[in-house]
Amino acid sequence: MLQEEAAGKAPRTSLHGHWSSRLAFVLAVTGSAVGLGNIWKFPYLAGVNGGGAFVLVYLLCVVGIGMPVMMSEILIGRRGRRNPVATMALLGEEEGSSRHWRLVGAMGVLAGILILSYYSVIAGWTLAYTWKSAVGMFTGATTEQVGAIFGSFTENWLPVAVCHTLFMGLTIFVVARGVERGLEQAVRIMVPALFLLMLVLLGYAINSGHFAAGVDFLFSPDFAALTWDGVLAAMGQAFFTLSIGMGAIMAYGAYLPDETSITGTSAAVVTADTGIALLAGMVIFPLVFANGLDPGEGPGLVFVTLPLAFGQMTGGAFFGTVFFVLLVFAAWTSAIGLMEPAVAWLVERYGRSRAQAAVMVGGLIWALGFGTVLSFGVLADFRFYKGTIFDNVDHLTSNVMLPLGGVLITVFAAWVMCRNSSAEELHGAGAMYRLWRFAARYIAPIAILFVFLKAVGVLPDLSGDA
Ligand code: PFF
Repeated sequence: MLQEEAAGKAPRTSLHGHWSSRLAFVLAVTGSAVGLGNIWKFPYLAGVNGGGAFVLVYLLCVVGIGMPVMMSEILIGRRGRRNPVATMALLGEEEGSSRHWRLVGAMGVLAGILILSYYSVIAGWTLAYTWKSAVGMFTGATTEQVGAIFGSFTENWLPVAVCHTLFMGLTIFVVARGVERGLEQAVRIMVPALFLLMLVLLGYAINSGHFAAGVDFLFSPDFAALTWDGVLAAMGQAFFTLSIGMGAIMAYGAYLPDETSITGTSAAVVTADTGIALLAGMVIFPLVFANGLDPGEGPGLVFVTLPLAFGQMTGGAFFGTVFFVLLVFAAWTSAIGLMEPAVAWLVERYGRSRAQAAVMVGGLIWALGFGTVLSFGVLADFRFYKGTIFDNVDHLTSNVMLPLGGVLITVFAAWVMCRNSSAEELHGAGAMYRLWRFAARYIAPIAILFVFLKAVGVLPDLSGDA
């Protein structure tokens, strides 16, 4: 089968279509990167892990690991022009290594399915919060009231399950229709609009009277507050927020025109994604301190702080509704990326139509999502290893599968692929190329393995904080 695929170049390009332009690709990757990870997960993880030191490690990981991994993923994807499983098998063979590299693609398919199983539930919360804002539920609400609304909503499995179902339905719908239609348009409006609204919220946060405290929490590193588990979480977050390590970006790279610069594209996406996350942090933490909330509150952090702010500001019901709608869109464009590897694989490997594949994969993810739906309700006390079912799925994917995928992807691109192949994709052998190759050969894999080993306690303790 591989030989057949390798022989015919034409089917490579015709199967799922191509991005209509470089901008379309940047928009699609940005749409995948910017999502709940920036606005929901980054602030709550920063809060749980003590703030500044976590943020610093996260930023270091974004630059030192995230950039080279993203570039590696796009270049592999474009060279293979298939779903991640077939691409890794094909290139493994083409580069004189082994077809077993397909297991990297397979792990990505699995990671995407597992991540979306909880991502969709949190996106469902966002859907419900759009409604709650629109009907004015938060107008004038106190801290206690907003907390109670969150608690009673998430504890109740039925409405959460309904929202999760609705969100999966939306995702299946777009994925079934193919990569080009709708998606580009949605991202083109959504990302700038989200950015603008975050700026409005920033203005509000600056006036909250606790801006300095919030910014101090976010940017003054206190290394005593950070454990090696926290460092692992910061690295995992860098992977999660950039959508790397699981083949989503590889799948998107497969639809990228040959002449587009991979370096420029990656830099643009990383900058936009990091900007939105930091902006979210600068909005959330001043509000946390202004309202006497606990920064370490956990996954509910954003769903408590922002409604509180919207409830107090003029026109808050309007701004709140628009904000949550945008967040639903941001989650939606990310969810599409999470399903893409699995769907592209089913289409190419088993000849399914995109619609059939989307329904099959989406159905499985929907069912798995009940593990998370119940983690905030009746199964909240069912805890093992890292906590609830949600905590464990999140840990396994963000902190283990994505970084492991990242090591294998960079090792493949920078050690297994010959220089000619990677130089061809990255357009030349200049300084940028050498920088990428150095980071992908040494910095990223060594840093990832080091953090892994520290977090599981295999390496001896140097700083005394583990
Ligand atoms: N990057 C997305 C976010 O920050 O919300 C999450 C994500 C999307 C991860 C797509 C992985 C992925 F393939």
